[in-house]
Formats: sequence, structure tokens, C-alpha cells
Amino acid sequence: MSHRIALIPGDGVGAAVVEAAMAVADKAAPGLLRTETFGWSCDHYLQTGRMMPEDGIERLRGFDAIFLGAVGWPEKVPDSVSLHGLLLPIRKAFVQYANIRPHRLLPGVEGPLKKTGFDILCIRENTEGEYAGAGGRVHQGTGDEVAVETAIFTRAGVERILRFAFEQAIGRRRKLASVTKSNAQKHSMVFWDEVTRELAAQYPDVEVSHYHVDAIAARMVMAPETLDVVVASNLFGDILTDLGAAIQGGLGFAASANIDPTRQGPSMFEPVHGSAPDIAHLGIANPIAAIWSLCMMLEHLGEREVASRIMAAVEATTANGKGTVPGRDTTHQITAAILAALGNTA
Ligand code: IPM
Ligand code: MN
Repeated sequence: MSHRIALIPGDGVGAAVVEAAMAVADKAAPGLLRTETFGWSCDHYLQTGRMMPEDGIERLRGFDAIFLGAVGWPEKVPDSVSLHGLLLPIRKAFVQYANIRPHRLLPGVEGPLKKTGFDILCIRENTEGEYAGAGGRVHQGTGDEVAVETAIFTRAGVERILRFAFEQAIGRRRKLASVTKSNAQKHSMVFWDEVTRELAAQYPDVEVSHYHVDAIAARMVMAPETLDVVVASNLFGDILTDLGAAIQGGLGFAASANIDPTRQGPSMFEPVHGSAPDIAHLGIANPIAAIWSLCMMLEHLGEREVASRIMAAVEATTANGKGTVPGRDTTHQITAAILAALGNTA
């Protein structure tokens, strides 16, 4: 059975890495993905005044999954407009409340820490919290200006992301690190800690640790091998997953999945790196983050065998030294090496 995928290449390096990922999908399992491409981007905004058409969400709804390259080109459109016009509404509209980001070193990749290994799965709350978008500005442009941005933590939202994280921990090393800042934020974060404790009673096999976000940031550098599943709010998860990307060798390796675990709507898969305007025309974007995200999508669609064949080809490629040093190999060279490795395993 084939799967219908909405492709949104977006801006900057998005198109190149999406193309690479689709070439890999095609080689690994011809015809498995039936794609339709949507040119929604900052250029689309300049032409139409919108990042996506008014019925954009409805047009995406019927797909089995969404594969996105990158959104944003601040010189053309302010990020606050482009992100709130495309990426963030998709995450919210399809209740993709779990943002999953794996951080581990691929074979042959020497991260800046020179550690031999770690394997962290970050679960970031993806629809509310500090990025809920609640707030406003008054007396704009005057000396009396006030800006309010209120974080929203609902019991339903906190409970479902924590439950999802507990379930992920069960399938791994059964360790869950819950991230808050409850020593300083005495309402929302104390609430998060309480819900974590309530759920912990239902998952006696999972060893739960509570970390403050500043402390776990240090731990991710000093002792990443002590962490398994890490669960955090939208803002904290956003920051910690860039840190995770850095310790795994760079943003070129950082994959992500925006999941609706209830499967009522399509989930969305995207590399973490963004549009990278500074290197967009150089042809050196690492396609591995996008290809890894493709593997996460295939797993989500139940195509485990294809996903693991592609991941093995990626690992064989990095083990050979291809794509392991930022900026050295071109997108095309890395993709060609992965395609060749796939040929060897088919
Ligand atoms: C990410 C990105 C986005 C986020 C931005 C572009 C809004 O940084 O996916 O981590 O913070 O969610
Ligand atoms: Mn981010």
C-alpha cells in the first residue's frame, strides 16, 4: 500500500534536502510514497500575501503525513510572520502535540564533546506552553508600551505529553528526565512536576528524574550518556533540542517528528535545521537530518523495514566518513553515497 504525502519544501535549503530525501525514498521503496508538492513559502507570501492559502490546512488534512523542508527567510518576510503563517499553525491545527527529536552520534561522526556515545530522545510539547501565542501589546510605539506573552499549561496538554514520554521510555531504557524550572516558575512548572508525579505512579517501571532546565543543559554537555528520554515544555524543548543537535555533530544531523499520537490528522516530519539562508546557494546542506526525518515518517506509517534499511545506509555512509564534517561534502555527494549504500543493501 502506498502513502499519500504532502511535500512542503519551503524556503532556503528546504528544497534541496526534501529532494534528497525523496530520492532516497524512491530508491529504497519505489512507488511507496505518492507525493504532492505545495509551494508554500516566503516567496509565496511575497506573491500572494499569505504563507499558505486560506484553505491550506483543509488541503493538508487528507494526507497520510506531511514532509516539510524549512520555513523562513527573514530578509524577505519577518520570522514572526512566516512561522506563524505556516509551520506553527500546522503543528497546532493537527494537534501534533509531541515533537520527537533523537540525539545520538552516527558512526564516524565526532561531536564537539568527543564522547563515544549517547542516545537521547527529546520529547517536546508542541502546541501550547510558552509558544501558545497568548498575549498582546498595548500603547505600541510609546514610552508606556507593554508586551505580555502568557505561557499556557493545561492539564490535558501536560498530561498527554508526559504520558507520551512515559510510553516512549517503556520502549527504550526506561529512564525519563522531566524538565522544568519549578524553583523559579512557581505556578506552571510546579503544576508540571505534580502531573509528572501523578503519572509516575502509573508507570512504576520507569525511573523518573526531575531536572531544572539550566541543570540539564549542563548535563547534556557533561554527561549526555546518563540521559534516555527527556520531556520538556515547548520553549525548553526547543532550546534543549538545538543543544542536542550540537552535541550530535550539528544541525545537519537533527531530525524531528511532529506527531499527533491519536492519528486523527496527519503528522509532520522535518529536519530541525531551518532554511539556513547563509548557505542556501552553496549546495552543501547536509541531507541527513531530512533523510533521518524521512525514516521517522516511514516508521510512523508502519514501514519499519524500509526505514531501517535507509537508516542503515545513512550509517554506512557516515561510517565511511561521508557527510560527517559540516560543509565539506555537497548535498549531492552525500545523497549519492547514501543511494549507493542503499543499492548495496537492497
Ligand atoms: C524548531 C524551530 C521552530 C520552533 C521555530 C522556527 C518557530 O526553531 O522547530 O525548533 O521553535 O518550533
Ligand atoms: Mn528550534
